[in-house]
Amino acid sequence: MNVSVKPLTPHIAVEARGVDLSKALGDNVFKTLYDAFAKHSILLIRDQKLTPEQHVAFAERFGELDRHVLTENSLPEQPEIFVVSNIKEKGKFIGRAKAGWFWHSDFSYQEIPAQASIMHTLECPDVGGDTMFASAGAAFDALSPTLQRFLEKLTAIHDFQLGSSRVQNKLNKQQLIKKKHFDDRPPVSHPVVRIHPDTGRKTLFVDPGYTDYIEQLTREESDNMINYLARHVTQPEFVYRHHWEPGDVLCWDNRGAWHCAIGDYSDDDRRLMHRVTVKGTATS
Ligand code: OGA
Ligand code: MN
Repeated sequence: MNVSVKPLTPHIAVEARGVDLSKALGDNVFKTLYDAFAKHSILLIRDQKLTPEQHVAFAERFGELDRHVLTENSLPEQPEIFVVSNIKEKGKFIGRAKAGWFWHSDFSYQEIPAQASIMHTLECPDVGGDTMFASAGAAFDALSPTLQRFLEKLTAIHDFQLGSSRVQNKLNKQQLIKKKHFDDRPPVSHPVVRIHPDTGRKTLFVDPGYTDYIEQLTREESDNMINYLARHVTQPEFVYRHHWEPGDVLCWDNRGAWHCAIGDYSDDDRRLMHRVTVKGTATS
């Protein structure tokens, strides 16, 4: 395979061409893709036809896989695949609707958060249903050294239930998350600034979706700081907005980027995505 890699914005996202992910990739090809992913946080590969098995096999190249706590949204024959969809069959959603309709980093509410999330688009609206990705590394670099040093001393609590509550009032009754799932994911603490294990780059890890509060500050200070950092990280210059096309495979690095799915489409606009999640490492 003759792979080429081209940045999509100066701070975040690259597109790779000349790759067929349904085939086993040679080590050199995979290294080119992985290095681009770790450096630019988003790796896009278009026009892929993948079976669930091929999707999982590609994801396994990144590392050990992890499963979403909402196991009822996984594909029965391939439980590593988490189905994100607004499509109903026989009155039942075939996957998770309204997943990630707020800025977040996948599994930040777990002691071991996610490394990569790898999404394959099967169906998407012609217009709408885009996803935004923000560089938490470029945003950290742009802070003053004084604020950087201050933030590096802090830790924050992340909470699955808090993040989930942000869409609770938009969810159909069938999709409301059960108490047992919240009990399975108690709040956890992470450093506010983490170090990317591959690149050594420092990134802001206080995604406004799941972060509840910064432990060393008062509630008011913490709310204001998290709001400020959320505005800072999600400024247009740090953001890549992806318009999905069927066949897209997009790998995002949860250690370096936050993302937000845009809920601007209706349930008549069918959207069906398969996502596989790769397990990360402890944050400190
Ligand atoms: C997710 C998520 C984004 C999307 O599955 O983690 O945030 O665009 N989804 O569906
Ligand atoms: Mn997500």
